[in-house]
Amino acid sequence: METQTGYSITDPLLDEIIEKYSGKPGMLLTTLEEAQQMHPWKYLPGETLAAIAQKLRIPPAEVYSVASFYSFFNLAPQGKHTIVVCRGTACHTRGSKALLDEIPSILGISSAVKDGGSSFTTPDKLFTIRTVACFGQCAQSPVVEVDGVMHSNVNSRKLMSLLSSVLESETEKNEQR
Ligand code: FES
Repeated sequence: METQTGYSITDPLLDEIIEKYSGKPGMLLTTLEEAQQMHPWKYLPGETLAAIAQKLRIPPAEVYSVASFYSFFNLAPQGKHTIVVCRGTACHTRGSKALLDEIPSILGISSAVKDGGSSFTTPDKLFTIRTVACFGQCAQSPVVEVDGVMHSNVNSRKLMSLLSSVLESETEKNEQR
């Protein structure tokens, strides 16, 4: 079945993932994790959750509840680059709200994630910006994760440099095309 991104993990691929983790502890989590990784937009479409539930003989509601509980699972398509700003108390105290607010102007986009935990993906699916409650690195706050790499003690200058590198890499790729 087609998803909103036009791509759904095929049955044989899901069978392969399930077989790999069959009978192992944490099978559901690892299956969901790998299925998400396999998707070009790094998320778990409803069709994939339903297929996993059916194949593992687990109630669909249980699979959905696991996928929605853990913040590392995405239920909506993700951008090519992901920027996650910690909004926990320690990071908030050290300026993470200002960092979150600076991101749209650095990236040249008009909208951004609303403070409070949701996420925003640009229509061209180049960037996803989201917040997290705590990375567990409070001593090094504020913490910002860019494309899976965590950066500590981030200030405006550091944020600008991190995001400029991402933008430059995109410009280079476009010039090579
Ligand atoms: S509050 Fe940001 S890492 Fe804990």
